[in-house]
Amino acid sequence: MTVTRRALPALALAPLAAPALAQARFPDRPITVVVPFAAGGPTDTVARLVAEAMGRDLGGTVVVENVGGAGGTLGAQRVAQARPDGYTLLVHHIGMATIPTLYRRLAYDPVNGFEPVGLITEVPMTLVGKRTIEANTMAELVALVRRQGDRINLANAGVGAASHLCGILFQSALNLPLTTVPYRGTGPAMNDLVGGTVDLMCDQTTNTTEQIRAGTIKAFAVTTPTRVASLPDIPTTREAGMPNFEVSVWHGLYAPRNTPAEIVTRLSGALQVALRNEALVRRFADLGTDPVAQEKATPAAHRAFWQADAARWRPIIQAAGQFAD
Ligand code: MLT
Repeated sequence: MTVTRRALPALALAPLAAPALAQARFPDRPITVVVPFAAGGPTDTVARLVAEAMGRDLGGTVVVENVGGAGGTLGAQRVAQARPDGYTLLVHHIGMATIPTLYRRLAYDPVNGFEPVGLITEVPMTLVGKRTIEANTMAELVALVRRQGDRINLANAGVGAASHLCGILFQSALNLPLTTVPYRGTGPAMNDLVGGTVDLMCDQTTNTTEQIRAGTIKAFAVTTPTRVASLPDIPTTREAGMPNFEVSVWHGLYAPRNTPAEIVTRLSGALQVALRNEALVRRFADLGTDPVAQEKATPAAHRAFWQADAARWRPIIQAAGQFAD
C-alpha cells in the first residue's frame, strides 16, 4: 500500500477520533424495556410494538423484559434503580399516577425516580366474562352478580393495576364487593378466563379484542363514553346505565432519573417516529387504540400529564382509604 503525504494528517487523527465517535453514538448496544407485568398482556403488547419500531429508528435492538408482580411496582423499581444511561427503560401505564398514593412503602421513589420520555397511547377497557357465564348483557350480568354475590370472582393484576382500578369502579357501580383474584398481569389472567377458572375481568382492548372476536370470552361493555370502532357491537358502560364506570388506560415510556437530557431527547425522537410507523398504527387500531399525537410523545407533555393524573387520583384513593400496604 502506498501512503501519500496528503493522506497522513487524516491517518494521524484517526485513533483519536474513533473513541470520541463511539462515545457519541447512542445506542451502541441493546436497550432493555422493562414491562412491569407478565408477558402476553396489554402493557406487553404495547411495549413490544413500540420497542420494535423504536429499534428501527435507533438502528439497534430494543428488547422487552417482563418483570411482573406487586401491581407493577417490581418492574418500576428495577428501572428506577438502573444506571441512568438510556439502556434500561420502562413502559408503564396509569399505575404510575396511582402507585405513589396507593403504596405508602416502596423501595424506590415512584414520583422522582424517573425521567418521562413521552406518552404512547390511551387504551379503552372492557368488562369481559368467561364464555360459560350465565349472562349475555350487562343487565343480565348485574342480576347474576346480585344473585350469586361472592361466588362470582374478578381477576386482576394486583393492587394499582389498571384491571384493579377498573374492577373497583365496577364494584362501586354495583355497590357490591366481589372476590378478586390477583395475577402478575392480565396475560395469564386471560388464559384462566378463557379456560373458565375465573368468571370476570376488566381489561384493556389490547388484550381482549382478539378473544372477544374469536368468541372465547364474552364482552359486556366498553368503559369509554363512546363505542370503540374495532368492537362496534359492544355497548358502553354509559349506555348500560353506569355513567361513573368509565376509565381508559394511558401508557408512557420512562428512563431512570438523571438520564442525560440528550439521551432522553434521542429516545423521545425515536418514540415519535415509532408512533407514526404504519404497521404499528394499523395494529393499534386493530386492538382498539391509537398512538398519541406527536406533541404528547415528549418529556414535557408526558411530565405534565403524569403529574396532573397523579393529583387527580390522590384524593380519590385517600378518600377510599384503600392502600396497598
Ligand atoms: C398487564 O399488562 O398485565 C396489565 O396492564 C395489567 C393491568 O394493569 O391490569
